[in-house]
Amino acid sequence: MEGNVIQSVRLDDANDTLVLLDQTVLPEQMTFLSLTKVEEVWDAIYHLKVRGAPAIGIAAAYGVYLAVKPSSAETTAAFYKDFKKAKAYLASSRPTAVNLFWALDRMERRFVKEMEENKGPVEVKHALYHESEMIRDEDEQVCKTIGEHALTLLKPNIGILTHCNAGTIATAKYGTALAPIYLGNEQGYNFKVFADETRPLLQGARLTAWELQQAKVDVTLICDNMASIVMKEGKIQAVLVGCDRVAANGDTANKIGTSGVAILAKHYNIPFYVCAPLSTIDLACATGDDIEIENRSAEEVTDKWYETRMAPEDVKVYNPAFDVTDHSLITAIVTEKGIAYPGYENSLKVLFKDN
Ligand code: MRU
Repeated sequence: MEGNVIQSVRLDDANDTLVLLDQTVLPEQMTFLSLTKVEEVWDAIYHLKVRGAPAIGIAAAYGVYLAVKPSSAETTAAFYKDFKKAKAYLASSRPTAVNLFWALDRMERRFVKEMEENKGPVEVKHALYHESEMIRDEDEQVCKTIGEHALTLLKPNIGILTHCNAGTIATAKYGTALAPIYLGNEQGYNFKVFADETRPLLQGARLTAWELQQAKVDVTLICDNMASIVMKEGKIQAVLVGCDRVAANGDTANKIGTSGVAILAKHYNIPFYVCAPLSTIDLACATGDDIEIENRSAEEVTDKWYETRMAPEDVKVYNPAFDVTDHSLITAIVTEKGIAYPGYENSLKVLFKDN
C-alpha cells in the first residue's frame, strides 16, 4: 500500500486550510472539503465528515493550529489565551474517542514548552505547525507497526470479522484493525473478510467494504445481526476491531455493536483482538464505566438512509454511538509497542514504559 492511499486528513499550510475527505458521502462521492474556520472543523468532527479515533485527533491538532495561526496577539501569554479557547471549543466536538483530547493536550504541552523557553507568538506558531505534522506522521508509522504485530496472530486463508471502520481513512494511513489485513493481503495471506454494516451510520457498508474492495481484499458485507450465523457456519477464525478508548483495566469503547460481537466470539471460541495505538489507551480511566459514551440524534436511527421515515412519529429513540467491551472478552490488545494480553492492568502499563 505504499503511495496510492487516499489521505483523509491533510494540512494545506500555504492556504491556511484543513483538507478533509468527506466520509459522510462515501462511497458514492469522493469529495474533499477545504476548511479554514475552527467552527467548520468542529462541525466536520461532530458530523463524522472526519471520523475514526486517530483521524479525529489529527484533525483536531491541525484545527487548533489553524484556529490560532491568524492571531495577532503580541505576547505569548495573550496568544496562549487564544489557544486555550480554540482547544476547549474543539474538545467539545465529540466525547468518546480519547485521541481528540490526547492530540489537543499534546499541542498544549508543546505550546507550554515553547512558552517556558520564552518564545514569542511567531515561534510558537511554527512549533504548533511542526507538532501537528508530527502527530500525523507518527500515526502512519504507528499503524503500520500495529499491522505487523497483529499479523503475527493471524494464519493465512482465515476468515476475519470486523466492525465499523478502522481502516486507512480512519487514520493517517494503514488503519488499525485493517492494517494487518492490508499487510497480509500484500503477502498473499488470502484473508476472507466479513464487514458488519454497522448500524446506524453504516461505516462498515460505506467505508470498510469500499476500502477493502479498492485494495482487492476479499470482502463480504453482512448486516450486524448476521455475525452469529457466519461464526456458527465456521467462516470466522478471528475478530479484529479498532477502538476509541481503552481503560486501564482493558475495557474498550468502540462503535456500538462491538461488545455484542465480542460476546458472540466468546460463545463460538473465536479470538477477539482490539487494535489500538497507545494514543487510544487512557490509563486515567480506571474502567469502562469511566468512559463517556456519546449519544447521537434520533434521526440517525429513524430517517437516515431511508427514502421516507421508517419509524412512527414521536417514538422514543436511544442512540448510543459506542459501547464498552468488557476486558474479559478481549483475547489481546495490539499496539505499536507490542501485544498486551489479559492481566491488562499490568500488561498495558508495561507498554508505556520509556514512552
Ligand atoms: O463514530 P466513528 O465512526 O468515529 O467511530 C469509529 C470507531 O468506532 C472506530 O472503530 C474506531 O475509532 C477505531 S478507528 C481506527
